[in-house]
Amino acid sequence: MASLAVAGFGKLGSAIVRGAIDAGVVAPHEIMVWARSDARRTQAEAWGLRRAEWPTVLRASRRVLLALKPQVFGTMTAERPVLEPGATFLSVMGGWQARDIGLRMGTDRVIRAMPSVAAAVGASVTALAVPAGMDTEDADFARRLLGAVGRVIEMPESMFDAATAVGASGVGFACLFVEALESAAVQAGMDPAAARELAVGAVAGAGRCLQASGEAPERLREQVTSPAGTTAAGVQALQAGGFGDLVRMAVDAARARAEQLGRTQA
Ligand SMILES: NC(=O)c1ccc[n+]([C@@H]2O[C@H](COP(=O)([O-])OP(=O)(O)OC[C@H]3O[C@@H](n4cnc5c(N)ncnc54)[C@H](OP(=O)(O)O)[C@@H]3O)[C@@H](O)[C@H]2O)c1
Repeated sequence: MASLAVAGFGKLGSAIVRGAIDAGVVAPHEIMVWARSDARRTQAEAWGLRRAEWPTVLRASRRVLLALKPQVFGTMTAERPVLEPGATFLSVMGGWQARDIGLRMGTDRVIRAMPSVAAAVGASVTALAVPAGMDTEDADFARRLLGAVGRVIEMPESMFDAATAVGASGVGFACLFVEALESAAVQAGMDPAAARELAVGAVAGAGRCLQASGEAPERLREQVTSPAGTTAAGVQALQAGGFGDLVRMAVDAARARAEQLGRTQA
């Protein structure tokens, strides 16, 4: 029996496995994966992982990471799988609520997590919902597994649509901001490569300063905003254009879509 079974070895599943191996949470030979494509199978073998077919992978360990595409999970569990008694499932799948995963699989032992794409570089801030009464050992394993690809924040599952909008989709929103900064720099006549580097650096630098200091973003913003200075002029323009309202609208739209996917997926 493996220490960890991984059902879905795509972008996120493989990033979590890589992080967990590098952090020493689990050794490669203790991991059993279901990988679909030849490329991913080759990668699994190159990393020293063991491979299982579907649905054997679901009973290959008492701890199973579910990292399938949401619609694929629906199809692949159309027939209820046979599970290892007492097995715990950790789902990183968007759209599927713990209760609906449990109904599909015939278990109530489902922990839910929502990482971001930054898991690939160990910088995800992952929302984690552990159901009441779940053994500390299984919950701790989930915390260590996801802690290997960044930070973990625990919250009730009722907050997951908002967490998806802010933590996972938020990476996309931040990229849109970088794109806008870059494009403004190019319009000002800057070389595109330099424009990209400055724009990425501004956003990454803000994030790193905030994480390192633990300060509120308003405080850091005040530090770089001298009265009547350049930042003050730009911030004023953003606020006059309704920047805060636009971001709120983006979060509301992403949250509503997550809620809708949660209803239609099951
Ligand atoms: N990527 C992220 O940053 C991120 C963030 C938060 C949550 N999530 C959630 O994590 C889950 C996995 O995401 P991902 O980005 O890792 O997805 P992915 O790379 O597309 O793959 C997930 C798994 O599903 C398989 N798969 C893809 N298309 C399939 C199909 N048509 N039929 C059967 N299997 C198929 C993949 O096989 P191959 O790779 O071999 O094609 C892989 O094993 C999703 O539920 C997503 O909502 C992802």
